[in-house]
Amino acid sequence: DDSTDTETRSPVVTVMGHVDHGKTSLLDALRHANVVSGEAGGITQHIGAYQVSSPETGKKITFIDTPGHAAFTAMRARGAKVTDIVVLVVAADDGVMPQTVEAINHAKAAGVPIIVAINKIDKPDAKPERVRTELLQHEVQVESFGGDVVDVEVSAKNKTNLDKLLEMIALQAEILDLKTNSERPAEGTVIEAKLDRGRGPVATVLVQRGTLRVGDIIVAGAEMGRVRALISDQGETVQEAGPSVPVEVLGFNGPPEAGDRLAVVENEARARQVTSYRAHQKRENAAASISG
Ligand code: GTP
Ligand code: NA
Ligand code: MG
Repeated sequence: DDSTDTETRSPVVTVMGHVDHGKTSLLDALRHANVVSGEAGGITQHIGAYQVSSPETGKKITFIDTPGHAAFTAMRARGAKVTDIVVLVVAADDGVMPQTVEAINHAKAAGVPIIVAINKIDKPDAKPERVRTELLQHEVQVESFGGDVVDVEVSAKNKTNLDKLLEMIALQAEILDLKTNSERPAEGTVIEAKLDRGRGPVATVLVQRGTLRVGDIIVAGAEMGRVRALISDQGETVQEAGPSVPVEVLGFNGPPEAGDRLAVVENEARARQVTSYRAHQKRENAAASISG
């Protein structure tokens, strides 16, 4: 943040946890969607980024769904900071598992507050109290155990306590007092990118400051381009995207990498200057890692 950041922005929440503990199901339930059923083998292969509006306040929350936590790890390794809050999903019938512990460690290392969603509470063998005890062994102390970590018992299946979870996220966001400035050239982070057969390079970008617009000249890592189209999380074409908004960006000359910082520059000459230098650095690093 700097002194020009005076507008409140929506929190960006990354949903993390062990495989099959219900991260995507929970997000599906929150946004009345059904992504899980379309996933090959029910396994999340790519990152999804979605906005959910609180039914009570209408305030938005941006969610990032991760396949395990590999992408989060990659982004953090590259210094990208996109997450304000981690929602740690723990299945009440399965308890704390290896990837739960890794998620805890990631959140702690990044200094990001955790909200625990104890999921699958509908199951007959659900043991939420056991989950709380196991979390304590990993230094996550929930409120009922005298700590300050909020936990919410939820069922993605039965849509139990989802409003409460949203409320707790909104409360935490208020404490964080997240600010931004939408009146400036956009800055953001590439969440993921791919080369699409029909559409060319497609990057999912989280805008963090400023406003990204169709026609903007952009750089991210060693790639540049001009925004040809912006597609919202609803799959709709939009003209612009402001702070905390995730969008698909079409118009890059090549796919950038997850964790790359996106910036808008004044003209193509500047974009070429920035990216050719970075491409050169990338080649040198690659050469050094081969010879070293
Ligand atoms: P990965 O992305 O592969 O790590 O999994 P995930 O954490 O996104 O879990 P996913 O949403 O794919 O759910 C895994 C399985 O648990 C699916 O069969 C879901 O239907 C089931 N499931 C998710 N939430 C609940 C719940 O609240 N109750 C019950 N009974 N089943 C659930
Ligand atoms: Na799954
Ligand atoms: Mg998933």
